[in-house]
Amino acid sequence: MDKKIIKGNFIFSKNLNNLSFLENTHLLINDGKILDIFKEVPTKYKNLNILDFKNKIIIPPFVDLHLHAPQYAMRGLGMDKELLDWLNTYTFKEENKFKDIGYAKRIYNEFAKDLIKHGTLRAVIFATIHKKSTEILFEVLEKYGLETYVGKVNMDRNCPEFLKENTEKSLKETEELILNYKNNKKSKPIITPRFAPTSTQKLLKGLGELAIKYNIPIQSHLSENQKEVKWVKELYNHNYSEVYNENNLFGQTPTLMAHCIYLTKKGIELMKNNRVIAVHCPQSNVNLASGIMPVRTLLNEGLNIGLGSDIGAGHSIAIKRSMVMAIELSKLIYKDNKNLKPLSTEEVFFMATKGSDFFGKIGEFNVDFSFDALIIDDSNLGTTELTLKERLQRFIYIGDDRNIIKRYLNGKEINF
Ligand code: GUN
Ligand code: FE
Repeated sequence: MDKKIIKGNFIFSKNLNNLSFLENTHLLINDGKILDIFKEVPTKYKNLNILDFKNKIIIPPFVDLHLHAPQYAMRGLGMDKELLDWLNTYTFKEENKFKDIGYAKRIYNEFAKDLIKHGTLRAVIFATIHKKSTEILFEVLEKYGLETYVGKVNMDRNCPEFLKENTEKSLKETEELILNYKNNKKSKPIITPRFAPTSTQKLLKGLGELAIKYNIPIQSHLSENQKEVKWVKELYNHNYSEVYNENNLFGQTPTLMAHCIYLTKKGIELMKNNRVIAVHCPQSNVNLASGIMPVRTLLNEGLNIGLGSDIGAGHSIAIKRSMVMAIELSKLIYKDNKNLKPLSTEEVFFMATKGSDFFGKIGEFNVDFSFDALIIDDSNLGTTELTLKERLQRFIYIGDDRNIIKRYLNGKEINF
C-alpha cells in the first residue's frame, strides 16, 4: 500500500455558495485517494511520512472546460477582429498547419506544459480536423498524466477548402478515434462538431449517432456572436439549440456548449431539461467583442455553468484569469440591473475547480475523493496574516503560475 500524509491549509468548494477550509489539517492518502482526515495524527499512523506544507495554501487543480490546443501558438493575434473574421483571417490558417505532425508535436507539447504550469490538470480540448495530429495530442496529454477529453474537429462546409472534410471520411475517422481511445484511463474522446454553420445536417446526424452508439460526450459552440446566430437561422431556419438537439447532440450524452450568450427562452429551457453544461469563456467574449454571457440569469434558471479559457480567442491559459474576468463582467451587468448580483469568489471557485461536475466526483478534500491539489506559496504577495479566504482571493487576483509550487493528480505529482 502506498500511504502518505499531507499537511497544510486546504481550501475547496462543495457547492456554489460556500468555501470549505481545513486549517493545519492532515490528509491520509492511500493509492491516490483521500482515506482519512485528521487534525492530529493518530498513533497508528505515527510511522508514516508527513509531507508538511506548513503555512502554504492548498487548493484543487483548475478545470478548463473549453479550449483549442491548435490555437495555442496564435494567442494574442487578431484580437481586433470579431468571431467570423477572426476565424477566416487567422484561425483556419493556423489550424491548417496541423496537417504537419512535426508542427503538431511541437505545439502540443508546449501547450500541455503551459497548461500544467498554470495548474489546469483537467481539460476538455478541441484539436483540428486532422486525425494524425489529434492522435499526437492524445499521446502528449497521456505522457504528462493529465485527465482530458480530446475532440477531433468535424467540419464539412462553409470553411476554406483546405479544412473542408468529406462527410463520410469525417465520420469514419471520428469513429476510429473513438474506438482507439474510448477505454483510455486519462485522455478520452469527445465528439466535436466545430459549430452548426460549418456542419451539414448529414454530418450532425452522423455524429449524434456515434455519440449514442458509443456513449461519448459532446462539445461545441453555441450562440456566441450575433452574426453567427443570424447565420444559423438562415442556414437551418431553426433555433440554434434545436439544431443540435434534433441531431442528438444536446444532452443525449453529457454535453458542453461554449459561450451561450444569445440564448432564447426556448434554448435555455432545452439546456436545462437536457442538462447541457454552459461553458463561460469571458476572455474570448471580450476579445472578439462577442458579448457577455448572462451568467446570473442562467444560474437563476438552474443551468450548470463551468469556465473555459477558450485559447486562442482567450489569450491567457490561466483559469484564474477567467475567474477574475467572470466576476468583473458580472459587475458590468449588475451596474445596470441591481437584481442580477455579481458573481462571488465562492461561485467562480466552484466553477473553476469542480467544472460543473463534468469530470464527476472531483475537486474536494474529502474522504473517497482522489487527491488532486495545487500547492500555493503566496509569501511574495504580501502578509499571510489574513484569513484563508482572503489569501485565496488575493492569489486569484494578483498571483500567477510562479506561486504554484507543486501539482498533484490522483496522488501523483505532475511535472512538466
Ligand atoms: N466558433 C467556431 N469555431 C470557433 C473557435 O475556434 N473559437 C471560438 N471562440 N468560437 C468558434
Ligand atoms: Fe472555442
